[in-house]
Amino acid sequence: MTSAAHPSDVAEHDVPQSYPPSPEFAAAANAGPELQQAADQDRLAFWADQASRLHWHEKWTDVLDWTDAPVAKWFVNGKINVAYNCVDRHVLAGKGDRVAIHFEGEPGDTRDLTYNELLAEVSRAANTFTDLGLVAGDRVAIYMPMIPEAIVTMLACARLGLTHSVVFAGFSATALRSRVDDAEAKLVVTVDGQWRRGQAAALKPAVDEAVADAASVQKVLVVKRTGVDVDWTDGRDLWWHDTVEKASPEHEAQPFDAEHPLFILYTSGTTGKPKGIVHTTGGYLTQASYTHHNVFDHKEGQDVYWCTADIGWVTGHTYIVYGPLSNGVTQVVYEGTPNSPNEHRHFEIIEKYGVSIYYTAPTLVRTFMKWGRQIPDAHDLSSIRLLGSVGEPINPEAWRWFRDVIGGGNVPIVDTWWQTETGAIMISPLPGVTDAKPGSAMAPLPGISAQIVDDAGEVLGNGKSGYLVLDQPWPSMLRGIWGDMQRYRETYWARYADQGWYFAGDGAKYDEDGALWVLGRVDDVMNISGHRISTAEVESALVGHHGVAEAAVVGASDETTGQGIVAFVILREGVENTGDELIGELKAEVSREISPIAKPRQITVVPELPKTRSGKIMRRLLRDIAEGRDLGDTSTLVDPKVFDAIRGR
Ligand code: WTA
Repeated sequence: MTSAAHPSDVAEHDVPQSYPPSPEFAAAANAGPELQQAADQDRLAFWADQASRLHWHEKWTDVLDWTDAPVAKWFVNGKINVAYNCVDRHVLAGKGDRVAIHFEGEPGDTRDLTYNELLAEVSRAANTFTDLGLVAGDRVAIYMPMIPEAIVTMLACARLGLTHSVVFAGFSATALRSRVDDAEAKLVVTVDGQWRRGQAAALKPAVDEAVADAASVQKVLVVKRTGVDVDWTDGRDLWWHDTVEKASPEHEAQPFDAEHPLFILYTSGTTGKPKGIVHTTGGYLTQASYTHHNVFDHKEGQDVYWCTADIGWVTGHTYIVYGPLSNGVTQVVYEGTPNSPNEHRHFEIIEKYGVSIYYTAPTLVRTFMKWGRQIPDAHDLSSIRLLGSVGEPINPEAWRWFRDVIGGGNVPIVDTWWQTETGAIMISPLPGVTDAKPGSAMAPLPGISAQIVDDAGEVLGNGKSGYLVLDQPWPSMLRGIWGDMQRYRETYWARYADQGWYFAGDGAKYDEDGALWVLGRVDDVMNISGHRISTAEVESALVGHHGVAEAAVVGASDETTGQGIVAFVILREGVENTGDELIGELKAEVSREISPIAKPRQITVVPELPKTRSGKIMRRLLRDIAEGRDLGDTSTLVDPKVFDAIRGR
């Protein structure tokens, strides 16, 4: 288990160990204690109430059908349109002039989109996609930076029942290709280039490379974002401004079944091949909307919300697009990095728009800490009334700094645990109810049930570390892995098959007071700045280099990024170790195959790797080496002398 936050970290005596909500916050909060009572009384009736916050074209006949477990059906026979709920509904309610998106471009350009304008744009895109011959059930790949057109594209897909697959624009052409092929996407939506730290970097060449003879791809739709020169394939490539911008802004949303596939999002598993996590419509939107309303205490028409994630990750899907927009949010969407043109950027944006709810990742909080408090202190951040954290455990020190420096010492922090697979937040404080402990995600939300168990499935008492399982189905749960239902069953449901529990892949414990601490992944998935990357994926990229015979990759603790990637490689016979040159080539290979975010922090050439007698690489020991720890028990190892060889380098 690799853990960034741990109860023992909070042994300080001079700081509060828990932070109750202020009486004023509690009094005005969307969620009070009655929410838990309602869920405890009748869980399915509770979820039906939450679903009723949305507009349904036709009501469901049953809340849950779990007879085909582990594939759930929620809101059976219900008919709903996600885009209608996120856009049209607000316009029809007379809120069309409200700003939906304050877009802040990296070079400083800005654009406000009202709900009226968002509806027109989404309708134009939907009409264009229809003209291109796309029909409900077809897949669309989206490979775009954080610009409004990316959100418009997602909503237009949802409106038409097209299943979108957003691929993070930092992924390589190779990664894009494998995702396009796996989902058999017919359309790829992208940009000419993207802004990164003041520079325009072409993105379309990666798409050209990725879709060259990709059997499924018929069209590539391109938003002109930077004006960089790009190659053009006539008949395949289309400009957004020649098509979408000229299409009719009128479009009537059709209802889709509650279980219609809304999106596929690829995430790293324990093998080299990413898993296409499938989410459907009615249950997903219900939980996305419910959690956004209650966990962030979002007040329509008053709050200015900012989630700093990218739409390439699930946090962007659920807490930039579907959750917030379903609740009629006014939100900031920022295209760039936090230090472009300088480290003041986020705080300037908070000040400029009066951001009141700010949801980010621990790695960014730790980066802010490194830059120093004089930077946020130079700004008026008094608009902030709630802070959120996601992606990895937040260490108590970062938690307290976040609250004191960014939150002015008096706002609640919601530390939200969830996964691509869970679709929405599962474990989190309720900001007006929970006395939050720094570093703890506290408790499953009302309507959600989680247990901490040992290998045999025994439920563990307070103070004992074990595995986090979800023992009841939930509305926004994944419905499978695209094209591989067998892998779905094996990955998540085989471990506790007798009990019928979902195995989350995380270690956790309840402390003596019953607060839940997530302790990090227990499988071979690393968490780098909140990004999931599997050791196997990086290993397979490394052995793709002609000089490498074998590779072993581990995630070692890193002060800023949570974990950093450390690789050990064995060279092929006769390959010369050219030192920095070789290491540089290997790092480039990983960037090319996966993404620069998967580039190892450190690569060490070794003569041998520690293996068990059955031939399995002992990653725990490699992690110990990478983190400079004592080696502990090496008795199951074939040849303990390999350590001297590895370390003596
Ligand atoms: C980790 C991101 C501790 C965890 C939404 C999980 C967390 C994985 C937290 C999912 C948190 C996420 N505290 N750990 N608040 N939030 N994690 O799929 O290991 O990108 O299994 O979803 O991130 O990462 P994913």
